[in-house]
Amino acid sequence: MSPLEDNTGAPVLVVSCSLNPASRSHTLAVAAGKSLDALGVSHELLDLREWDLPICDGKACYDHPSIGPVTRKVAAAAAILIASPVYNYDLNAAIKNFVELTGQAWGEKPVGFLCAAGGHRSYMSPIGLANSLMFDFRCHIVPRYVYATKEDFGAAHEPGPELAGRIRQLVQATVDLSVALRWLASRRNGGAGRGDERD
Ligand SMILES: Cc1cc2nc3c(=O)[nH]c(=O)nc-3n(C[C@H](O)[C@H](O)[C@H](O)COP(=O)(O)O)c2cc1C
Repeated sequence: MSPLEDNTGAPVLVVSCSLNPASRSHTLAVAAGKSLDALGVSHELLDLREWDLPICDGKACYDHPSIGPVTRKVAAAAAILIASPVYNYDLNAAIKNFVELTGQAWGEKPVGFLCAAGGHRSYMSPIGLANSLMFDFRCHIVPRYVYATKEDFGAAHEPGPELAGRIRQLVQATVDLSVALRWLASRRNGGAGRGDERD
């Protein structure tokens, strides 16, 4: 049985943020989906290359026809995995814009990161977005993250075996955190959490 099965079927949302047609971080997103499949956890890939999204202006952008559908996907997710390129010691502008557009829908979600970078020195680059998600929306950042450079991928851009193992660990940690948070929420709301059936 899927560990998230009793979460009203809420999928894990994997947001693929690179707009590059030959993206490496996209292959991280696809591999995360495969790891979720292996755990029997439902998931959805949201590829930002496929969405016509406006740049956030804090006003008229929210009337754009794409905003409702993507915001609902974020709001419905049990957890969110962000697969992003590292640009200028940060994640790319597309995911920052996506968070600005979808805002409150991120509230209290578990969020994990998978990043493709050019070198090893930008390892801490997701910290700005992680902080924003924590302080703006009380997201729970998964305390494990995947950082990959070109050497971690095979000839066809697929994650090599060591990288694939780290992706599986991140996915497992994300599912575990989601299940634990849901259990806590059920306790807070007065219901019995999973494993409490004999209480
Ligand atoms: C505008 C730009 C800025 C970049 N800045 C960084 C950086 O600060 N640190 C780094 O390690 N790599 C940097 N890179 C390299 C990318 O992270 C690398 O090419 C990565 O594979 C991009 O992800 P993608 O293949 O999913 O698009 C940069 C690349 C571009 C195009």
